[in-house]
Amino acid sequence: MTSDITLADKTIIVTGASRGIGEAIARACARAGANVVLASRKQEGVDAAAATITAGGGSALAVACHMGQAEDVTALFGRAAEEFGTIHGLVNNAATNPYFGPMLAIEDSAFDKTIEVNLKGPLAASRGFAGQAPAGGSIVNVASVAGLGAAPLQGVYGMTKAALISMTQTLAHELGPMGVRVNAVAPGLVETRFASALIQNEELLKHVVERTPVGRHGQPDEIAGAVVYLLSDAAAFMTGQVMTIDGGWSSG
Ligand SMILES: NC(=O)c1ccc[n+]([C@@H]2O[C@H](COP(=O)([O-])OP(=O)(O)OC[C@H]3O[C@@H](n4cnc5c(N)ncnc54)[C@H](OP(=O)(O)O)[C@@H]3O)[C@@H](O)[C@H]2O)c1
Repeated sequence: MTSDITLADKTIIVTGASRGIGEAIARACARAGANVVLASRKQEGVDAAAATITAGGGSALAVACHMGQAEDVTALFGRAAEEFGTIHGLVNNAATNPYFGPMLAIEDSAFDKTIEVNLKGPLAASRGFAGQAPAGGSIVNVASVAGLGAAPLQGVYGMTKAALISMTQTLAHELGPMGVRVNAVAPGLVETRFASALIQNEELLKHVVERTPVGRHGQPDEIAGAVVYLLSDAAAFMTGQVMTIDGGWSSG
């Protein structure tokens, strides 16, 4: 048992790791001592992020993987195991939000894509992880404050994040007996390409910032530390939980 927040001797897979929150998590895991497997759809994107880690003395492997495609997810675990052996941690971070508007007007294709990437992907990856996870293994799902309540104009995206929180709670119960923990983080507005439409819209940004106690939006590194903690043995008594990291936005 340890209270130290370290990932030494562990291998962690991070999906959606080529930029934004996923890249910040991958770098933080490497700084904490882990071998990191970075996955996203575009090989060049994860290659660049992995190169930054290895240039700093860290250990990284870049694998192209579309989280909506089951065969890609299976191949990701095969490649990661071939390189590093046992995988100790999984961060389900990749997600998509192809539609912004009233929930009832979403087209079937956008609905299906959101479900595939945001839910089927994390479920398939959790299955791949659990099939080989050692006691002490840890899954961290990147949810959103959009999954904690109403998400106007992002309804189906918010619905997938609420379901991801439910998946977190259920898998915590189902995998707990194996010694595998499952937690989630729920970020508020964070400056990434994903959130650029919101952040560049002055009126929307003002609306968010005005009800945020810290008076600003967040940066990817401000999410990464919590994820490293949840992956580490310092969080050994924590499972089935959601850590909200939103500058206080959801506090009232
Ligand atoms: N930014 C925010 O305000 C905010 C707030 C709450 C929660 N979140 C959550 O944080 C997570 C990361 O978002 P972000 O803001 O960091 O976004 P981002 O900067 O746009 O990065 C998204 C990452 O996911 C990858 N990706 C996208 N679709 C994928 C797919 N089908 N399969 C595999 N990888 C895929 C992208 O790389 P490729 O293009 O190469 O695939 C990229 O690496 C998401 O779960 C998002 O819902 C974000």
